[in-house]
Amino acid sequence: MDQIRIVGGTPLKGTITISGAKNAALPLLTAAILSDEVLELTNIPELADIKCMLELLEQHGIQATRNLEQKKVLLHAQSIANTTAPYDIVRKMRASILVLGPLLARCGEARVSLPGGCSIGTRPVDIHLQGLEEMGAEIELKEGYIHAKAPKGLKGATITMRVVSVTATENLMMAATLADGTTKLVNAAREPEIVDLANCLRAMGASIEGDGTDTITIHGVTKLHHAQHRVVADRIETGTFAIAAAITGGELYLKDTSIELLPSFISVLQKTGVIVEPTSDGFWVKASGHPITGVDVMTEPYPGFATDLQAQMMALMTVCQGASLITETIFENRFMHVPELCRMGANITVHGSSALVRGVSQLRGAPVMATDLRASVSLVLAGLAAEGETWVNRVYHLDRGYEHIEDKLRHCGAHIERVKEAIAA
Ligand code: UD1
Repeated sequence: MDQIRIVGGTPLKGTITISGAKNAALPLLTAAILSDEVLELTNIPELADIKCMLELLEQHGIQATRNLEQKKVLLHAQSIANTTAPYDIVRKMRASILVLGPLLARCGEARVSLPGGCSIGTRPVDIHLQGLEEMGAEIELKEGYIHAKAPKGLKGATITMRVVSVTATENLMMAATLADGTTKLVNAAREPEIVDLANCLRAMGASIEGDGTDTITIHGVTKLHHAQHRVVADRIETGTFAIAAAITGGELYLKDTSIELLPSFISVLQKTGVIVEPTSDGFWVKASGHPITGVDVMTEPYPGFATDLQAQMMALMTVCQGASLITETIFENRFMHVPELCRMGANITVHGSSALVRGVSQLRGAPVMATDLRASVSLVLAGLAAEGETWVNRVYHLDRGYEHIEDKLRHCGAHIERVKEAIAA
């Protein structure tokens, strides 16, 4: 397994171009199942999760033509050869559940391996299943698979979701585009990735209103058609690099993104004393020259502070002046980065779903182990600020969600390199 080696202490300076959002691209790829015509997606990031989703779609019989240089994918689901999403792919990537709604809507049946829990929580899929049942699907769980059937097609329904769920909202919104009648999704997720998916579905001929609010209305149509769509900027990558500027006392221009994608994060960042200056195609993040001020943070569904930025914000808070209380409300086990940050000299105490971070004047490099995608990048951020050498293990987590991260950081002055296993050993 590769490792990342970082020698910290250099203020980052320069421009980073933000990639297309992983969490927007994944549902957009599955939207191709809904039509027998070509879907052309641009600004597709080069990530392990995208590769995995393309493999899944290909084994369903969908033709995928990818141009890495142009960041473009053409998907053609002329016919669906196989409606089973197998365990071997789903266990690698939970977002595979996003094929369920589209397959059921297009083919009247789907068999999808039940995603298990993962390192950050149990992550059930009951809301996806309940919503589809309310649209008339028959669902059975057997031998570790979800067996869903709707031989006469799905019917419009009013579905009130128990908890705000991003992928459940996406699955149900996609399923409803081809249902008979009108579907109302109440307590829907409002993330920019939902709006991006709705924009693409509308370009394909779907009738959707209210995306970006907590009630989405979808009027079913009989067919969706060819469309072109550009994936929205990755707000989590944006926030991560904003923290890279802040934690190193540097100055970065984040390009092809917008502060409007992450309002709560930007307001918290400004409260820490970091300077944010928006422009027409991105924004500047500049350290003020004063120590970072401790700020309390609680994760919430959008437009609240994203759970996917919690670990990174905690890394920043480890070097704040004063203290910060970070409360995680979305996932039950999302403090796996805490012991690793503490190995680098951070002072953090966890009390249930809250972590009290008392700022220290300096982190120290150490070998650390990542447990999930966002936890691993928080260790990279800590390594950039730390004195000495940090080795981040289990780099495959990073490759799931950060496109060319070492190149982007090195380009701005970071001392960071990927070390292949043989050399590292
Ligand atoms: C998506 C994101 C992930 C992010 C998360 C929360 C993608 C591909 N992934 O994951 O990066 O961390 O949103 O912003 O977009 N829940 C249930 N039953 C369900 C579904 C969800 O109880 O059927 C619970 C979850 O356990 C969690 C909460 O709802 O506590 C929110 O999770 P959800 O929004 O569904 O996360 P994902 O869509 O899996």
